[in-house]
Amino acid sequence: MKLLEQSNQDFEQPQGSMPVVAADNISARYPLDKELALDSVTFTMFPGELVALIGPNGAGKSTLFKILSGVNRRYSGTLLIDGASLLSKQKANFIAYMPQEGDIDWDYPILVKEVVTLGLYGNIRQQKLGRLFGLADYSASHAALARKALQTVEMDSYANRDIKALSGGQKKRVFLARALAQDAHLLLLDEPLSGVDQRSEEVIMNVLTEMAKAGATVLMASHDIAGARRYANRVLLLNKTIIKMGPTESVITEPLIKQAFGRSLHFF
Ligand SMILES: Nc1ncnc2c1ncn2[C@@H]1O[C@H](COP(=O)(O)OP(=O)(O)O)[C@@H](O)[C@H]1O
Ligand SMILES: [Mg+2]
Repeated sequence: MKLLEQSNQDFEQPQGSMPVVAADNISARYPLDKELALDSVTFTMFPGELVALIGPNGAGKSTLFKILSGVNRRYSGTLLIDGASLLSKQKANFIAYMPQEGDIDWDYPILVKEVVTLGLYGNIRQQKLGRLFGLADYSASHAALARKALQTVEMDSYANRDIKALSGGQKKRVFLARALAQDAHLLLLDEPLSGVDQRSEEVIMNVLTEMAKAGATVLMASHDIAGARRYANRVLLLNKTIIKMGPTESVITEPLIKQAFGRSLHFF
């Protein structure tokens, strides 16, 4: 079993670096379901990687994101984030999670700039404990950070709008601004490119690529296999179990895609 799992990971681990995600034998089942949503999923991710998570509908991609982000705690197996518990890393604001469009409750009235500053709370808590800044410093650096993050995703002119009033792509850019402001080291993005306009896609991918270059670890689910080929360093091909994880060109092959999706896809 172990051997089989290892052979699914076609990748030389960087020497001496601590995995940012070490998922060992993660399984999950929803209460009324007979089938597992995730079955013995084992993989590691390292700093600076941009990994595309690919699999058909119902493959367990969103379930995996919810587990990695701490939203879903009903799983078996072990999960270490940067060598520590998920909870401690959540408290340290290490992780940013962008849910799939349908998983967000947009009824709550909140301004764009507030969505971004929410991402700063963990950092502020740490600064308060660690460096004992004055309160005025927080609010000033707070607002400045939020503004800068919104500028980076080209959404600063929308700072005072209600988040509900934005398009899908714009909302996703705001989430990304929050992750930037938060200085998240692990970014979990559930279908960040689905239904977004061209410019949003460019902005999102530029920011994610830059963040990975700066040492962040990015896991993004994608329907767009051609896009994953362009952007990702590695691909995790999932259908309840890991079909294969490895360098993009060794995973996006016709037989493996057919195995995961149950049919051939057009672009080969
Ligand atoms: N909240 C839920 N309650 C019950 N079953 C769920 C729930 N969320 C997902 N599932 C089931 O778990 C499986 C994996 O779903 P999901 O993680 O959303 O896959 P994906 O994101 O790859 O489409 C599916 O069979 C789905 O029906
Ligand atoms: Mg999903």
